Amino acid sequence: MMKRDLISINDLTNDEIEQVFAIADELAGDLRGCEQLCRGNIMATLFYEPSTRTRLSFESAMHRLGGNVITVANMKDSSTAKGESLADTVRVVGGNYADLLVIRHPAAGAARVAASFADVPVINAGDGGHEHPTQTLCDLYTLRQQKGHLEGLEVVLCGDLKYSRTVHSLAYALARFGANIICIPAPSFEMPDYVLEKLGSEFRCQPERFEGGEFDDLVEQADAFYITPNRPHQLTLFTDAAESRAQKRRVIKNIDALYMTRAQSERFTNLEEAAAYPRVNEALLRRPGFQDAIVMHPLPRRDEISYEVDRDPRSMYFKQAQQGVPIRMALIAVLLGIRPLQRGPRREVGQVAIHGALRCWNESCITRTEQGGYLLPEFEVVTRQPFRLRCAFCEAVRPASWVGDRSRKRVFPAESTDVMGIAGSEITAFEDVESYEAEGYVLETAR
Ligand code: NCD
Repeated sequence: MMKRDLISINDLTNDEIEQVFAIADELAGDLRGCEQLCRGNIMATLFYEPSTRTRLSFESAMHRLGGNVITVANMKDSSTAKGESLADTVRVVGGNYADLLVIRHPAAGAARVAASFADVPVINAGDGGHEHPTQTLCDLYTLRQQKGHLEGLEVVLCGDLKYSRTVHSLAYALARFGANIICIPAPSFEMPDYVLEKLGSEFRCQPERFEGGEFDDLVEQADAFYITPNRPHQLTLFTDAAESRAQKRRVIKNIDALYMTRAQSERFTNLEEAAAYPRVNEALLRRPGFQDAIVMHPLPRRDEISYEVDRDPRSMYFKQAQQGVPIRMALIAVLLGIRPLQRGPRREVGQVAIHGALRCWNESCITRTEQGGYLLPEFEVVTRQPFRLRCAFCEAVRPASWVGDRSRKRVFPAESTDVMGIAGSEITAFEDVESYEAEGYVLETAR
């Protein structure tokens, strides 16, 4: 059986997410009665970044399933301190040591690297500012329990939308389940372009700038206010009608959930950036439009949700953290093959891969931070005109100056229409003249 990893929330189809929830429902009914389910299995937790909830709920989940846990209390005490690569560490731990790896790492794309080198399933417990799919499962599970459904919900994502990996995974999932996403970033913490790009191109969810609104208190300190009037399922069915509806600004009358995040200060250096940060308090929750808004947060919080909100029945953040145990129990059982999922049709993404051509420009990408030279950059072509590439590890999107045809060893300026004619399997890209010349490519002169 092929092993299965969870690196991005998009590794699970909507139907598979529902199946994980159904298993979680079942296990949650008797958390103490599951100790035979994973007996004899070992899970290793490799956390290269601090964690309380994610790590402890994973470890608790495995104990409740009757399995065992091995861990490195502090990765600085592991051979990482001696310069061992991520690839070598996971090859060893994912050998006879453990049947499942859970990894958290400061570099975006690290979980993907771990998955490609380990023989056992790998779960991404947060890779830099990229994704955090298991937190999204807890978030969606809570949201659906509270609201009864996901489609059509109005969900505000607020705070640090730039570096919060929980927000990126959640945005994809909300778009896929047909919820509306309203983004309220703190100044200079807007959703990254690559996330917006993917929401648009893969999930038909086009963000739109929205001026003003009813939540002035909250938006006062916020830079921009986007709304996403998407209906992905309907869009697929009724493209024209939905698109014309999407052109219009919607008035949001009722917020269903307000998802707040802390400023991810470990991922930026200019602390002044976080000076004007939106805050949630009881006064905000008394405003029109917020009466049904549940307040969510992946935790830890700092001061972005005042403690008075904890007493409000709409506060859900401690509940989200509690769901971590049944959700992660379900996921462990699934990935160990003990409770396999029924696999339905999968979304085909017909992109072209480019190997080893350029460097990723994202300094937090694992291809930039990992030593040893064993990781070759890899990109997918997002669009040919303009020519843009997406890093296969951290997903950052970048342009390239020169596009080559491998079969003919010819190169074209990226803006040339000839780029459209290159066969998908033959396409490659270069940063500058020196790099294409070094590989023996010749510039195609205008015909
Ligand atoms: C989040 C994370 O690590 O990304 N925490 C968590 O796993 N619940 C959010 C955060 O650290 O702000």
